[in-house]
Amino acid sequence: MTTMTIEQAGLMLTDPLSYTDEDRLHEALTLLRRTAPVHLVRASGFQPFYAVTRHADIMDVERDGALWLSEPRPALASADSDQANRSGTVRTLVNMDDPDHRVVRAIGADWFRPRAMRALESRTRELARAHVDRLAGLGGQCDFAADIAAHYPLYVILSLLGLPESDFPRMLQLTRELFGAQDAELGRAEGKDSRMGVLLDFFTYFQELTAARRAHPTGDLASAIANAVVDGKPLDDVETMSYYVIIATAGHDTTSSTIAGGLQALLANPGELARLRAEPDLLPTAVDEMIRWVTPVKEFMRTASADTVLGGVPIAKGESVLLSYPSANRDDQVFSDPFRFDVGRDPNHHLAFGFGAHYCLGAALARMETRALFAELLPRLESIEPAGPPEWTATVFVGGLKHLPVRYRLRA
Ligand code: HEM
Repeated sequence: MTTMTIEQAGLMLTDPLSYTDEDRLHEALTLLRRTAPVHLVRASGFQPFYAVTRHADIMDVERDGALWLSEPRPALASADSDQANRSGTVRTLVNMDDPDHRVVRAIGADWFRPRAMRALESRTRELARAHVDRLAGLGGQCDFAADIAAHYPLYVILSLLGLPESDFPRMLQLTRELFGAQDAELGRAEGKDSRMGVLLDFFTYFQELTAARRAHPTGDLASAIANAVVDGKPLDDVETMSYYVIIATAGHDTTSSTIAGGLQALLANPGELARLRAEPDLLPTAVDEMIRWVTPVKEFMRTASADTVLGGVPIAKGESVLLSYPSANRDDQVFSDPFRFDVGRDPNHHLAFGFGAHYCLGAALARMETRALFAELLPRLESIEPAGPPEWTATVFVGGLKHLPVRYRLRA
């Protein structure tokens, strides 16, 4: 029996701390799915929105990009930030609707197709191996989330962009500050204006990169972005910067969270860890199960372009819905035994990558690099166990474990 009301459950979606307590979060989401799957949330400091918690309703919204627009409110933010976002500091793919969205998405799309993934695979395996070596070098005990998982995906994505390895630490710091901004430990110290400061640093860095790649294209993703032409014109400064920002940020904490959370799920389910080690062919299904289990992107939003009805609830033109991916991924209408972590789960129709026109551009990359890390790690492990309680990032957008203390022995 839950002690929470529907109102309290809805309000939890606006509180970054809700995502640091998974049991309580899922108690709230289960309550909403069962009793109020399209629920109006009125929280102080936020414009009202409907929380959409069932898998089927989220699919209905994502499927119809003409009715449900990403602009002007692509993700949950305070009412003040919603207002500021309208001035268009950053306009990335996730903010856009067709026809612009289709054209801009096409600029980077080739770099995420299977051919490009195959080309990147051996470099990714090298990076994975280097990170397992790093684990070995840490001497048998470490914070797997902060010491290993936080670094590796950024190195992969920066390799795809074509940035020099000497710039990786700076990018690591900036992306963590941008996405961890709601977490007291990870955000920048100076408070309210910090997001703008981080964005400015990003802009400066990528402005220099664009100039360099325009002068001397080098055949990497950064060169494709710098030299893209739409309607006979290059992208303007904001569009170019926004592309780098979405690639560098979307490709990072999402996959780090999956890798750290995936290992934590294996530690909490030693039978599944043993099964995966005995049957490495299960890695592809295990990786998708990790992604479902962790669901690092907590929500995106859409706004109705016309009066409509969703899950039996009338929604007026201009009203917004929040798509709760963690909730969709525990929906017992779609997943048998949804709270069981099953490395062989198949089919696994999770919505962690979204669905429809905005379906994650980096999904194949995220799967490939997560697979590569575990393919390198699992055979080298002699033993591994928790060395303290895991800790989750406070966020309402993207995140997962920020600390995962582990004790381990690796083969040389
Ligand atoms: C496990 C890791 C990841 C998860 C869970 C994830 C999740 C998501 C989700 C939920 C969306 C929005 C989908 C929607 O609105 O329907 C998205 C969009 C996007 N993701 Fe990922 N992502 C991951 C990794 C990556 C990586 C590695 C990249 C590489 C750069 C990436 C790049 C993007 C981009 C560019 C978009 C915007 C696509 C658009 O709006 O058209 N993501 N992702």
